[in-house]
Amino acid sequence: MKIGVIGTGAVGRTLAGRCAELGHEVTVGTRDPAATLQRSETDAMGNPPFAEWLAVHPAVTLGSFAEAAVHGEIVINATGGSGAIAALTLAGSDNLAGKVLIDVSNPLDFSGGFPPSLFVKDTDSLGEQIQRALPDSRVVKTLNTMTAALMADPAQLAGGDHSTFVSGNDDEAKGTVAALLRSMGHRDVIDLGDIGTARGTEMLMPIWLRLMGALGTPLFNVKIVR
Ligand SMILES: NC(=O)c1ccc[n+]([C@@H]2O[C@H](COP(=O)([O-])OP(=O)(O)OC[C@H]3O[C@@H](n4cnc5c(N)ncnc54)[C@H](OP(=O)(O)O)[C@@H]3O)[C@@H](O)[C@H]2O)c1
Repeated sequence: MKIGVIGTGAVGRTLAGRCAELGHEVTVGTRDPAATLQRSETDAMGNPPFAEWLAVHPAVTLGSFAEAAVHGEIVINATGGSGAIAALTLAGSDNLAGKVLIDVSNPLDFSGGFPPSLFVKDTDSLGEQIQRALPDSRVVKTLNTMTAALMADPAQLAGGDHSTFVSGNDDEAKGTVAALLRSMGHRDVIDLGDIGTARGTEMLMPIWLRLMGALGTPLFNVKIVR
């Protein structure tokens, strides 16, 4: 399958690499491909320059946000939450129309320092904002409740025996996403309902961030026991 990944951070790279490993044709999108390839310093999160990552993932191609959107039969939004709507606007609503748009972003506001707060919550969510901005796309919120390494390879923790949520208005789109998730090793995919249920998973962030502090690692996840 052709997969477009909008975003060059840890999440975009990790999901792009995993999708390529599974045999998908992957294009990663960035605002300015030439500038992204020229970066020689680690980013704010300590990730090595994108060109270094790309050199060891030769099957993945880099393009603009719009080129990644055109390429993908499924498109993954892996941009910083505060820039997500701007990035998807650059990707182009026409290029994303009718497509499954996997949204892994979180509405984190770092303006007050760490831990960040949420810039939308309770009565709305970033997933809903994205669905409203792109009414012709089929937005499925998922994977935002775990660290990038677990998104791509959940089996590295408890053999993958932990939970992954999906939220979205389109059942067929959620089925497509669940199949992709299972192919990555997600064993317990829970359909929460429509995109409004993304309020719940985005609002897990405050406890997720405190757990990371208490445990001293981002390598953990929730398991829903029932
Ligand atoms: N890191 C994790 O483990 C993790 C876990 C769960 C959820 N998430 C969520 O996943 C998303 C991606 O996280 P990340 O750590 O991989 O990367 P990030 O640093 O949050 O985002 C990097 C990407 O966002 C784009 N971007 C940032 N501001 C923009 C703006 N104003 N307009 C257009 N594009 C903009 C960048 O574009 P350029 O390529 O042009 O620089 C880059 O591709 C975030 O929403 C994060 O909250 C992350």
